[in-house]
Amino acid sequence: MADLDCTVDLGRGLRLRTPVLTASGTFAYGFDAPLVDRGALGAIVTKGTTLRPRSGNSPARIAETPSGMLNAIGLQNPGVDAVRREYAPRWAAWDLPVIVNVAGDRLEDYVEVVRRLDGVPGVSGIELNVSCPNVAAGMQFGVDARLAAQLTAAVRAATSLHLMVKLTPNVTELVPIARAVADAGADSVSAVNTYVGMAIDLRRRRPVLANEVGGLSGPAIKPLALHAVWEVVPAVSIPVVGMGGISGPQDALEFLLAGAAAVQLGTVNYVNPNAAREVLDGIRGYALERGWSDLRPFPLRASPVPSHA
Ligand SMILES: Cc1cc2nc3c(=O)[nH]c(=O)nc-3n(C[C@H](O)[C@H](O)[C@H](O)COP(=O)(O)O)c2cc1C
Repeated sequence: MADLDCTVDLGRGLRLRTPVLTASGTFAYGFDAPLVDRGALGAIVTKGTTLRPRSGNSPARIAETPSGMLNAIGLQNPGVDAVRREYAPRWAAWDLPVIVNVAGDRLEDYVEVVRRLDGVPGVSGIELNVSCPNVAAGMQFGVDARLAAQLTAAVRAATSLHLMVKLTPNVTELVPIARAVADAGADSVSAVNTYVGMAIDLRRRRPVLANEVGGLSGPAIKPLALHAVWEVVPAVSIPVVGMGGISGPQDALEFLLAGAAAVQLGTVNYVNPNAAREVLDGIRGYALERGWSDLRPFPLRASPVPSHA
């Protein structure tokens, strides 16, 4: 059987050997998942990393829902300096690119985190989590096209690394925000982050999560996330990395058909450590059955530029 070229070029030197990535917050910094078959992965995306260490929210920080989970971890992370000094040297010895997810509540903090990661061996790219509240403006960067563009432009100027901007779906219209960050210098966009939700404990008569609200992920959000990707792909001329509720090959294939250049797996990692391998095998099987030699024929609609270079 002919072999399939699974590589994906996301641009600015970020070339992935497969289109399957781990999603931020579900794979920590890549050291604690011995059961996951790394050979199936194109890259690891880390937990959201901030300028200073954060201990996160108090418990309960996670709640199960019938087809997904709510989380309000509160960006628990060791801070950028620990990441740079302790983790990056270990990543540098891997054959797998690591994309650091970056968070902050002030534009200056994001810029500083990215500046400290720029040129550090072992760091192959930045994923900008724009779903953080901007202290000055009092709203999330990612819900306002102008703020999202300002943040993207400032971070763009601070790094020569691949810059992926992760969109929040908690907006009325996603497309203008995707366009704004693309115009401001993003190399790719990833879509989507979690949907805001909550659960209430009937017996204790209070919200289940200590933070009251959290982010909904898992199978419940897949049709919504797929639609978000479907909308964003034709609106931008940079690659779109799709995620949200992917629980197996069928879901991942739908995202690739919708035009995603690659997919991220999040919540599924908690229930099936073999998911990345199964998804990759499913993608390979689908393409090979159709006689394709690479991933370029996937998108159902022509995009403004080829999303698989
Ligand atoms: C426990 C948990 C922690 C997360 N932490 C982050 C984070 O730090 N930064 C971020 O951008 N997204 C974070 N996410 C969102 C995921 O990366 C992903 O966008 C979302 O869960 C949807 O994908 P899924 O349904 O496959 O999990 C987190 C998700 C979960 C479940």
